[in-house]
Amino acid sequence: MWKTCILAAAMLGPLALSVSAAEAVDEGRAVFDARCKMCHKIERIAQIAKRTPEDERAAKWAKFLPSHAAGVDASGREAVIAYMLSAIAPQ
Ligand code: HEC
Repeated sequence: MWKTCILAAAMLGPLALSVSAAEAVDEGRAVFDARCKMCHKIERIAQIAKRTPEDERAAKWAKFLPSHAAGVDASGREAVIAYMLSAIAPQ
């Protein structure tokens, strides 16, 4: 029985993670549309992002956004970063 439980947890873990990641992306898109798009579309962010190696973008934006995006709280920033990373990832 415990083996079944461990197996179930192992299978559900990644699923739960990907669902919450998808939710963050949706939430981040809403934040971006409401608070960021009036100054730069996601296409412009994608252009600027090319200057920074892909694996350094999240950390760079986490440092940059608190002074850049007034009125967006920490969870909003996390969500908007998740959205930007997903929106500019090579398809
Ligand atoms: C009042 C206008 C304004 C608002 C609102 C705004 N930005 Fe910006 N942002 C700018 C400008 C101007 C730049 C420089 C853009 C350029 O070079 O074209 C910039 C640059 C950026 C960059 C590139 C940083 C880099 O150098 O890597 C990111 C990422 C970014 N903004 C994210 C956001 C996010 C996310 C929001 C909303 C939460 C937001 N911005 C809201 C004006 C704004």
